[in-house]
Amino acid sequence: MTRPMSRADACPALGTPPRLVEQSMARRKLVYEGKAKTLYEGPEPGTLVQYFKDDATAGNGEKRDVIDGKGVLNNRLSEFFMTGLAAIGVPTHFIRRLNMREQLIRAVEIIPLEVIVRNYAAGSMARRLGIEEGTQLPRPIIEFSYKDDSLGDPLVPEEYIMAFGWASQQEMDDIVSLALRVNDFMSGVMFGVGIKLVDFKIEVGRVWEGDFQRLIVADEISPDSCRLWDIETGKKLDKDVFRRDLGSLKDAYTEVARRLGVLPTNTASMPKPTLIN
Ligand SMILES: Nc1ncnc2c1ncn2[C@@H]1O[C@H](COP(=O)(O)OP(=O)(O)OP(=O)(O)O)[C@@H](O)[C@H]1O
Ligand SMILES: [Mg+2]
Repeated sequence: MTRPMSRADACPALGTPPRLVEQSMARRKLVYEGKAKTLYEGPEPGTLVQYFKDDATAGNGEKRDVIDGKGVLNNRLSEFFMTGLAAIGVPTHFIRRLNMREQLIRAVEIIPLEVIVRNYAAGSMARRLGIEEGTQLPRPIIEFSYKDDSLGDPLVPEEYIMAFGWASQQEMDDIVSLALRVNDFMSGVMFGVGIKLVDFKIEVGRVWEGDFQRLIVADEISPDSCRLWDIETGKKLDKDVFRRDLGSLKDAYTEVARRLGVLPTNTASMPKPTLIN
């Protein structure tokens, strides 16, 4: 005779009080703790929860700070850009936002490259070539750096990428076309709110759909990963504000979010519900 299943049957930890069992089952499994984000196992296979931290780092982690509210803004902004990209047919890892700091994403196999697109000279390119920051480039230029913090993410030619098997020739073609579509979309959206997209970086990953493998945009798109300058004043509205000590990073990101109409609802200032009978 079969007997009805008890809580203890359902749980391998026989005899553990139910409340403790529930608590330990609710704890999520950490997958990766990065500098700006943490990844947890998602509710279904092939998904992850991406948690946006307030930590800001620059120079490969040499400069660090905690910027109260940065994670909330980047979660919203990355959602905004990824949703817009999906709407014009550019595949991304974004599934849905879960709360102020977390979003559900598709797990991908990250290609170990930072894909950098530049419209104007700035940062390392301006230094390397002795070009004045802000000089418009003859056309968008794409460059790749190998994702390895211990090496300082060195710039690599396509020859290396293929020779070491980090990506195939077909994948490189797909990465370039994804990067250019992201550039056109982001440049247009930012231009619409009076901001120049100087450069940005994306990460791309592989997903399997049945027998087919394809590439999608992963990681994040936010002022942490773009250079954004006000068109009128040239004021910087991105992570350079932190890298170069130019003022409040939170104010800069809030300005970007405000112009795009992407500001988190301030729950503290929301009116209390009124009972109607
Ligand atoms: N959809 C995804 N599936 C799997 N991994 C992802 C996905 N999107 C982003 N990642 C990875 O998650 C991590 C995000 O954390 P974060 O950006 O804080 O890392 P990081 O400190 O910059 O280190 P890293 O050098 O690995 O990028 C990165 O390693 C990124 O490559
Ligand atoms: Mg990163």
